[in-house]
Amino acid sequence: MVYNFDEQVRREHTDCFKYEGLMDLCGRTDVLPLWVADMDFRTPPFVMNAIARRMQQGILGYTCGMPSYKEAICRWVKRLHNMDVSPEMVSYVPGVVSGIFLALQTFTEKGDKVLIQQPVYHPFHLVPEATGRIVVQNALRRTADSFEMDFEALERDIQGCKLMVLCNPHNPAGICWSRETLQRVAAICAKAGAIVVSDEIHCDMVLPGHEHVPFATVSEEARRIAITLQAPSKTFNMPGIVCSHAIVFNDSLRRAYFTYIEGTDQDLGNVFAYDCARACYTDEGNEWRQQMLAYVQGNIDYLQQALSECCPKIRMIRPEASFLVFLDCRELGLTHPQLEDFFVNKARLALNSGAMFGTLGEGYMRLNVGCPRSTLQQAVKQLEEAYKEL
Ligand SMILES: Cc1ncc(COP(=O)(O)O)c(C=O)c1O
Repeated sequence: MVYNFDEQVRREHTDCFKYEGLMDLCGRTDVLPLWVADMDFRTPPFVMNAIARRMQQGILGYTCGMPSYKEAICRWVKRLHNMDVSPEMVSYVPGVVSGIFLALQTFTEKGDKVLIQQPVYHPFHLVPEATGRIVVQNALRRTADSFEMDFEALERDIQGCKLMVLCNPHNPAGICWSRETLQRVAAICAKAGAIVVSDEIHCDMVLPGHEHVPFATVSEEARRIAITLQAPSKTFNMPGIVCSHAIVFNDSLRRAYFTYIEGTDQDLGNVFAYDCARACYTDEGNEWRQQMLAYVQGNIDYLQQALSECCPKIRMIRPEASFLVFLDCRELGLTHPQLEDFFVNKARLALNSGAMFGTLGEGYMRLNVGCPRSTLQQAVKQLEEAYKEL
């Protein structure tokens, strides 16, 4: 089956965060929304069919995952990432952010230090802060075309931290961290006695020519200290279903974490969650995923070309995974508030401000290319017109 990613699906007035949140984000609603990290593509038909079948059964009662749910996850991670996982190593968690919260609750206490690497997805600091943990900001280092880890700084900053939250692949820069990088992270964290929560929600969206390396598989140390969080939600555009999972190899970490998850009833998905996950982790799901990624890659190519021709001072960090593009706008010579004003009030585009991801994100904006090409073309047109007026 050939899927149509050019289709425009209206989302206004549907309780859609990407639209309903515009006033709070931008102070106006007449802007093109290219922010929240879900896609504007129709959720695949096999997910919709799974929901329809469940509804036809007639009762929306309490639900638990059958063994086939965890077995589908095990087959999928073996197929895509060569990860050997058995069902007892897997737990449902409501969301990946919830999974981070549950790990903080299990393994740390109020006042404990938690390391994150900025610029990074904003809940990495919001969740520890909201729960009274102390966030240690370890800075990524800018390279000519992306970011890299600064191991000396990591070795220094991890001292006294109970836990590190790793973003692999990285949001917002779209980096697939290499095996060597992850091995060094594992060695540094193991030596410092820190657990690593590896957020791998973008791992099934690696773009052609790149590879996802699961943190837990890079060394014995990594396997011993890793909590891996994944989900079908981003890849198959169904985050509203709220269905993610954790994988833990180490017996004692797993016992502690899963006991907390089960004890607080966080292992109970909603009535559609398991059906949807099972429907995605199939041959049909893989086919849709590959077509979607080919389309997203086309959008990235188009955006890169258009920016270099029309807005050469805005430089794209080309993502190796996923549909989020981090734009380096520092050459425009604007302060960060002026940059935000430029995008919202001149270009009439709603992007995520780089400042959300930490102070090192200032001068950057994050653009979501998980949309029909025509939406992106409209965005480029608006950006080009505003750019000319600068
Ligand atoms: C790195 C990362 N982690 C987690 C999430 C959200 O995951 P969930 O909706 O499962 O909590 C996102 C969404 O953008 C993300 O980019």
